Amino acid sequence: MKATEELIERLNDALAREMRAQAMYAHYAAYVKGIHRMHLKPYFENEAAESVVHAQTVRNALVRLGGVAVTERHTETIEHATDYRIMLEESLKTERAAKEAYQGILPLLKEDEELYDAIEQILFAEERSVEEILQVL
Ligand SMILES: [Fe+2]
Repeated sequence: MKATEELIERLNDALAREMRAQAMYAHYAAYVKGIHRMHLKPYFENEAAESVVHAQTVRNALVRLGGVAVTERHTETIEHATDYRIMLEESLKTERAAKEAYQGILPLLKEDEELYDAIEQILFAEERSVEEILQVL
């Protein structure tokens, strides 16, 4: 596989994951119940909004590389839950997968400083999210 093809494939995987994350967090913001709703509803809403911004960055990168951006979210099932613990466990899995996806993209961007910086910022955000959830669980 050509380097650009691999990069496009990996960016599309990341984009699909961001679209899935957006849908998952919006769902959890709507369904989280009980006393934890006070904190977790805005938290999930913020994560959903962040996923939209990440998706925009990745989509723009795909356009710049001449690739065709996916329009469907990642096929991994979004677990419905009302229990905040299950939501946080699912969030952790999602953030870890995102982190791995961006870790796989960075080494392919050595020659594109601007895109490297943009993807690195996203990776840092995913790493922060993982750490945050681990502190709550
Ligand atoms: Fe993200």
